[in-house]
Amino acid sequence: MSRLDTHRGRVLLTGGAGYIGSHCCVALMQEGYQPVILDNFANARRDVPDRIALAANGPAPQVIEADIRDRTVMETVLAEGGFDAVMHFAGLKSVAESVAHPERYFDINLGGLTVLVAAMAATDTRRLIFSSSATVYDARATGGAISEDAPLGPASPYGHSKLLAEKVLLAQAEADPSWRVGILRYFNPAGAHGTGHIGEEPADPPDNLMPYIAQVASGRRARLQVFGDDYDTPDGTGVRDYIHVADLARGHVASLAALERDGRGHVVNLGTGRGQSVLEMRAAYARVSGREVSFEIRPRRPGDVAQCYCDATRARAVLGFEARHGIDEMCASSWSWTRRREGLA
Ligand code: NAD
Ligand code: UD1
Repeated sequence: MSRLDTHRGRVLLTGGAGYIGSHCCVALMQEGYQPVILDNFANARRDVPDRIALAANGPAPQVIEADIRDRTVMETVLAEGGFDAVMHFAGLKSVAESVAHPERYFDINLGGLTVLVAAMAATDTRRLIFSSSATVYDARATGGAISEDAPLGPASPYGHSKLLAEKVLLAQAEADPSWRVGILRYFNPAGAHGTGHIGEEPADPPDNLMPYIAQVASGRRARLQVFGDDYDTPDGTGVRDYIHVADLARGHVASLAALERDGRGHVVNLGTGRGQSVLEMRAAYARVSGREVSFEIRPRRPGDVAQCYCDATRARAVLGFEARHGIDEMCASSWSWTRRREGLA
């Protein structure tokens, strides 16, 4: 019997100071696990651990400042840490940057993962949950809801780095059945912690829809640019499956429990199974925040598809997971985080 069977275990969160990792850290703390963050703070603020403590109403998590590509450090951390599992969030995530600098994406997202896997193998740490993405699917080849068996075919170096990382992990689990790997393909994470203490630190300008809308609502940007209104969707704008980051965090806790319970790994979509259009998101944000969110219609963004939403059947069957929060809660939590972050009343 492993330690997770008898008490809530110690979990190493690479990239745990980032957007998704910080929310998972709170969820793990609240479920009685002992998360430890390993992060190089390339894309996270130093005060995140203190803010995690506020959000969780508990102590600040232990933090190890390190780079996942440093094999010596990773082996030492894993050898000395007594971890029951690793959640691997560390990585880069901008599609546009990956097109301009593919070498960074293969170095960190793929090279970093192989260092982590080697260090885990060397230290007998064999449970891993991996942050993958819906970007591994060939969205053009899929008409409706995307199941885990849908055709794969990333459209960017970022997507390829995720798919290759998945393959490394599946090969490892096949070679050594004592490995248990949970591959979680996120759809569109959105929102922030309900307390407003943690949330996303977007690029400047933000790449993604919700943080951009948030900055229009706060007055930092004049208007939202809606990329295309001539798609074959109900209102002509792009449709995506936005999942509240708190739901996503619950999905990780469920994945960890399933690895233990089932004794084998899984590849699972994490989304709501429903799509929302750009204009629906804009309207919800304006309503919830009580702020004006002006917009203008612009040409389609290269590489975008009309719609992308998940088939959530396997998440229900394998993890017992179902998203609870809708877009109003995503917008409300994003707004309280944005107000706090930008010092608005
Ligand atoms: P994030 O940038 O907020 O978090 C990533 C964290 O990793 C940051 O804290 C950063 O400092 C850290 N990091 C980066 N390189 C590192 C390195 N070499 N060593 C140690 N730490 C390093 O991103 P996020 O949104 O929290 O995403 C987490 C994971 O989920 C990523 O792997 C991302 O590709 C994946 N993902 C994110 C989304 C999304 O929309 N946010 C969607 C699908 C998948
Ligand atoms: C993008 C990435 C995907 C990544 C995901 C993370 C691309 C092609 N894909 O997906 O790999 O996993 O982010 O969340 O970049 N939109 C606007 N105006 C904006 C921003 C977005 O109209 O300023 C529209 C887009 O055209 C799209 C929708 O909003 O229809 C969502 O866009 P975005 O948040 O960038 O997510 P994805 O494109 O789904």
